[in-house]
Amino acid sequence: MEAKLMHAVQYKSYGGGPSGLKHVGVPIPTPKKNEVLLKLEAASLNPVDWKIQKGQLRPLFPGKFPQIPATDVAGEIVEVGQGAKKFKVGDKVVVLLSHFSGGGLAEFASSNERFMVARPAEVSAAEGAGLPVAGITAHQAITQSAGIKLDGTGKQKNILITAASGGVGHYAVQLAKLGNTHVTATCGARNVELVKSLGADEVLDYKTPDGAALKSPSGRKYDAVINCATGIAWLTFEPNLSAKGKVIDIAPNASSFTTFLLKKLTFSKKSLVPLLMIPKAESLDYLVNLVKEGKLKTVIDSKHPISKAEDAWAKSIDGHATGKIIVEP
Ligand SMILES: NC(=O)c1ccc[n+]([C@@H]2O[C@H](COP(=O)([O-])OP(=O)(O)OC[C@H]3O[C@@H](n4cnc5c(N)ncnc54)[C@H](OP(=O)(O)O)[C@@H]3O)[C@@H](O)[C@H]2O)c1
Repeated sequence: MEAKLMHAVQYKSYGGGPSGLKHVGVPIPTPKKNEVLLKLEAASLNPVDWKIQKGQLRPLFPGKFPQIPATDVAGEIVEVGQGAKKFKVGDKVVVLLSHFSGGGLAEFASSNERFMVARPAEVSAAEGAGLPVAGITAHQAITQSAGIKLDGTGKQKNILITAASGGVGHYAVQLAKLGNTHVTATCGARNVELVKSLGADEVLDYKTPDGAALKSPSGRKYDAVINCATGIAWLTFEPNLSAKGKVIDIAPNASSFTTFLLKKLTFSKKSLVPLLMIPKAESLDYLVNLVKEGKLKTVIDSKHPISKAEDAWAKSIDGHATGKIIVEP
């Protein structure tokens, strides 16, 4: 019997940007052992998706060509493979697919259940699909790296969140405010009111002199910085940190790693810590439930039909999204 085809977007080699993406008809995947088949309802893009296409993360990613990119999806289970136990046909879920195999820019995807959580009816597919990479990164940075307790207990901390209008930053602001924090945030002028509405106590336009210098308007020194922007030098952070202040760098470059080592070797009280997101189903489940309870929201930059996935891809590469870019099959 001939396999049924689905619409998918894929690339066959490194490079090419949006025009490297091709629309193809490929067989609907068959769930392997311990996998389920999902009819996808929404996918969200992350900068890592196009960084993989660019070849910035080779030789690790992608695991193979051709590659259907994107890992953050919401969908409905339509088939359960042998040994898969957590979910049943008809369940709505939010999933972090593997970065090795991707699969999000398609009508269907198969996945194991490791990083798959239930999506309650109160959380839309797009709101759910926004969460995996950006939400888990923000959660890890705020709780594990900055040590903020999201039940509001603990000593008050002054936090700076850079690029607070982006995918990670907008979740980080909201999560930080669940804890006992004073949050300073940076973003472009057009997003200042939005970032305030997410809970930030003070917001700096990063294109003004005070914004570029990361200076708190209320004169605070930061106990932790969640740095979601690129290209800010240690020398800019340093004078704004409290005695034991820490920069948690989610987009580290070679100079961040040098600073990290230098600060360690000189027993500096101020530090820089590169962060790599470690996927956790418990974090994803926690975040989905926060959205359900109305305590966290996914700001949606734009929605694109899969037939125009290149536009979504170009928008992400452009680096000026406000919240999450969504692709719908
Ligand atoms: N380490 C990890 O595991 C991990 C996980 C997730 C993400 N990341 C990385 O973290 C970075 C952020 O990811 P993202 O998804 O949040 O990106 P994003 O959504 O593409 O961020 C775009 C936003 O950042 C703002 N922005 C850019 N430069 C800024 C600056 N200097 N100051 C203030 N705002 C600025 C832009 O504002 P304007 O439009 O006004 O310029 C835009 O709203 C990316 O490099 C990504 O690869 C790493």
